[in-house]
Amino acid sequence: MSPMKPLVIVTPFHESQIQAAIYCSKESGIQIRVRSGGHDYEGLSYVSEIPFAIVDVRNLRSISIDTKNKTAWVETGATLGQLYYTIASKSRTLAFTAGVCPTVGVGGHMSGGGYGMMSRRHGISVDHVIDAKLIDVNGRILDRKSMGEDLFWAIRGGGGTSFGILVAFKIQLIVIPETLTVFNVTRTLEQNATQLVHRWQYVADKIDDNLLVRLFLRSFNSSRNGKRTIGAFFSSLYLGRVDDLLQIMQEKFPELGLVKEDCIEMTWIESALFFAGFPRNTSLQVLTRRVSVVTYFKGKSDYVKEPIPQHGLKGIWKFLEEEDENLAELQFSPYGGRLNDYSESEIPFPHREGNIFMIHYFVNWYKPGNKESERHVNWTRRLYSYMAPYVSKSPRTAYFNYRDMDIGMNNEGNTRFKQASVWGFKYFKNNFIRLVHVKTKVDPSNFFKNEQSIPPLS
Ligand code: FDA
Repeated sequence: MSPMKPLVIVTPFHESQIQAAIYCSKESGIQIRVRSGGHDYEGLSYVSEIPFAIVDVRNLRSISIDTKNKTAWVETGATLGQLYYTIASKSRTLAFTAGVCPTVGVGGHMSGGGYGMMSRRHGISVDHVIDAKLIDVNGRILDRKSMGEDLFWAIRGGGGTSFGILVAFKIQLIVIPETLTVFNVTRTLEQNATQLVHRWQYVADKIDDNLLVRLFLRSFNSSRNGKRTIGAFFSSLYLGRVDDLLQIMQEKFPELGLVKEDCIEMTWIESALFFAGFPRNTSLQVLTRRVSVVTYFKGKSDYVKEPIPQHGLKGIWKFLEEEDENLAELQFSPYGGRLNDYSESEIPFPHREGNIFMIHYFVNWYKPGNKESERHVNWTRRLYSYMAPYVSKSPRTAYFNYRDMDIGMNNEGNTRFKQASVWGFKYFKNNFIRLVHVKTKVDPSNFFKNEQSIPPLS
């Protein structure tokens, strides 16, 4: 909603044009915002309160796959959909673990985390970044070797934007079976949704690592009786065949009552279409489109370490009933599995062992206008405050890729350690300190900054 427009939008086709943009920006004192897929939750890649230019890397989107070594170089202007499509065009058994929305950009996503439907088995995107190309504040083009391990550590979860302009990542691809199984099943309050969601919390992070059962909670009008109810949508990917999946579900989560008819066997790339909400016979080419529906939204996040009791869940239902049908939701994304194999400090993304699931609070709306926005944003803030007793504490942790300026922000144009600590420890826990040291070393003049960038020590 910012009234401020960029003074210029640079869309480089070559690295030298990024170097030139950095040089000109320094000469003229204009701040740079870097945009890859433009999905930043607070729009920090394309709005600013101080005069700014956008470097939009959308034209740097080449992807080269090395099937022999199971690696790929992907430029940061590519989208996840383009990456998935390109991998699948070369192999039926190679894949990559990243988010479900195909229009999300590689630049922001892979420098901040990257959770997806295979994360319990294969971790998040940044766990698989093995090299990178970054242009620093002095215009130097650096790779892993020349940037050093400290900076390479920082850009795997600490966000690229505080440290330079990322041009490409080298990623390790993962090996998957040719046939996977998906299911989407819904249970309403009348079908024991409260008990099922409660039970899910005891199962979701401990079940077979090849299975990820994600939960979406919404309020909607039931087609059975037209009455408003709460729907618990169980959305799952199993890295294997349907018969094995049914056996696991029967053993660990029989209460859901999953049957063969609920399940569909398909390839990984078909599952990418499925989870992005496309009908089954849609051409895979749709994954390469950049445009998505324009709506307004607000998101926030939390981590849960102890199951939420049933009375706590019932309080959530009341919040969902307040909002318009289907426009507000809570996503419960299970952790555990491979996510626990890394220590909290291995990379800046610290959300490892001890987390059962992440909550994503989300509301979207279509009508512009401050009053409408205020109503929905306030809803998320009230709900967030209601959830305090049920989620992580000291710090109340949050996922960096679901950026939320309510948890704290820097002063305009003036970044200070103390103020940044308010939000920094929530996203990164103690890794925040190391990120500050890296920033002090590589960009002491704080050239790359925004409302939630890592501050250098003065
Ligand atoms: P954008 O271009 O807005 O950049 C985001 C941030 O990264 C900005 O601060 C920007 O300056 C910086 N940046 C971008 N490119 C850079 C570059 N080349 N060099 C340096 N800095 C750069 N997450 C998840 O883990 N799993 C999921 O399933 C989803 N799904 C999802 C769906 C939808 C509809 C949205 C809007 C978002 C998600 N996300 C998500 C969150 C997503 O991972 C997060 O918003 C990413 O930062 C988006 O990256 P983009 O490049 O698209 O954003």
